[in-house]
Amino acid sequence: MNYEFILVTPEAKKHIALIQLNRPKELNALNLQLMLELKDALQNLDKNDEVRCIIITGNQQAFAAGADIKQMESRTPVDLIKIDQFETWDQIRKTSKPIIAAVCGFALGGGCELAMTCDMIVAGESAKFGQPEIKIGIMPGAGGTQRLTRAVGKALAMEMVLTGKFISAEEAQKAGLINRVVPDEVYLDEALKLASEVATMSPIALRLAKESVLKSFETGLQEGLYFERKNFYLTFSSEDQKEGMNAFVEKRRANFSGK
Ligand code: CAA
Repeated sequence: MNYEFILVTPEAKKHIALIQLNRPKELNALNLQLMLELKDALQNLDKNDEVRCIIITGNQQAFAAGADIKQMESRTPVDLIKIDQFETWDQIRKTSKPIIAAVCGFALGGGCELAMTCDMIVAGESAKFGQPEIKIGIMPGAGGTQRLTRAVGKALAMEMVLTGKFISAEEAQKAGLINRVVPDEVYLDEALKLASEVATMSPIALRLAKESVLKSFETGLQEGLYFERKNFYLTFSSEDQKEGMNAFVEKRRANFSGK
């Protein structure tokens, strides 16, 4: 697939791939084509054994200002059902490798939802997060009422969803929505640093650990604990478990092969 609205660098750094949303004039508004490209890129990177961590970013002005309003304006409910655009989002959520959102500027509506679909968020201090759909007569449709509420709690989620208010990167961090806030000039470098740390770990352990954390959003405690336990046992079938534990005993750095 040739990409028109994203730029993909499969080896931005060792074992790290970078996807940049690239519709700068439209503040990276997420049209259908962009989302299909993103899904395709993620599926390819997920299959690429060289890649252990993925970063999704935008530019200094915008991570993404939401779904493309101009494209949606004249849609009927039947169109929306037929297009089934959120199936693309579901696929993104199924990426097994860790994804970091590197956010600067606007992360609104679908943009905020896309960042929340990622596993961690690093933000520049000018980042603004919001679910302003209510201001255009709709409501969030790609996880904004669910992931946001789980991340920041009912009070702030209600206020953001019902008034469309934006929150700053600092507020987002205090509320538990994002991992860290850094100066705008270095937001991508910091995301790369975090990704580098992740990418030194065992890919199999990363996959099972990510899966287990995400499971906690969908199960009760006991079921989640059983799920975790099985994934924990499964890590012992990998060569990386032997390597990790040997390296500890031999007081050296582990070199994980992904086997
Ligand atoms: N869709 C389509 N185009 C968009 C867009 C969007 N979500 N956001 C910005 N743009 C376009 C603008 O139309 C404008 O294009 P033109 O120059 O051709 O007019 C260009 O990007 C620059 O935007 P502004 O001139 O508005 O820039 P600003 O700095 O004055 O304002 C902003 C920035 C506050 C982000 C404002 O653009 C804005 O409010 N955007 C819409 C935000 C929004 O409502 N997002 C939710 C979308 S619905 C959704 O996401 C549903 C879902 O859950 C999946």
